Amino acid sequence: MKLFVDTGNLKEIEQLTALGIVDGVTTNPSLMAREGGDPRVILKEICGIVKGPVSAEVVATDAEGMIREGREWAALDPHIVVKVPFTRAGVQACKTLASEKINVNVTLIFSAPQAWLAAKVGAAYVSPFVGRLDDIGQTGMSLIQEIVDLFTNGGYATKVLVASVRNPIHVIEAGRMGADVVTCPPAVIDQLFKHPLTDIGLEKFLKDWEKAQAAKA
Ligand code: G3P
Repeated sequence: MKLFVDTGNLKEIEQLTALGIVDGVTTNPSLMAREGGDPRVILKEICGIVKGPVSAEVVATDAEGMIREGREWAALDPHIVVKVPFTRAGVQACKTLASEKINVNVTLIFSAPQAWLAAKVGAAYVSPFVGRLDDIGQTGMSLIQEIVDLFTNGGYATKVLVASVRNPIHVIEAGRMGADVVTCPPAVIDQLFKHPLTDIGLEKFLKDWEKAQAAKA
């Protein structure tokens, strides 16, 4: 399973990429708005750092506008994946962009039928939002299993990109279910690193080492 970072923040992307764990980046209009500045400049820089798929979302709501914006995003860098919302216009735009060999990530997926329709029109990725389903009392991860099964049985090449990830349990369940990608905010990636026994263990190793050195001196 690939790990993408869900942020538009260059510093966070640089730091995590330096660790060697980042395969790609996802952004959305909310994340880009948080950064300020020119999104084209920021996304171009992100592509230079990550050298993997970088999702850039359209803000038009009609198919024609989405196709125009999608072509503009795709022309920015070969790593760009055009993100379109799952609407009728988004499905139509995905079909056209995919036919032009532009990779499309269909986002705001909250049901298996939506994922299936996106796969039918050639989406490179679908982004089901697990955390937002949990927020309304549904089990977000059940949707991931449904979509993985649907795509496996139907032979669809569309990748399942698990989004709206809130904790390490989402991440590990996604991997066990056979999802292709999980996109995590940096705070969740921090949690993936943490275990108190690692910290306690390291502290003890170093203390024992120091004691032995002091005894030798
Ligand atoms: O990028 C889309 C998705 O990951 C958003 O997550 O936390 O705003 O539900 P969240």
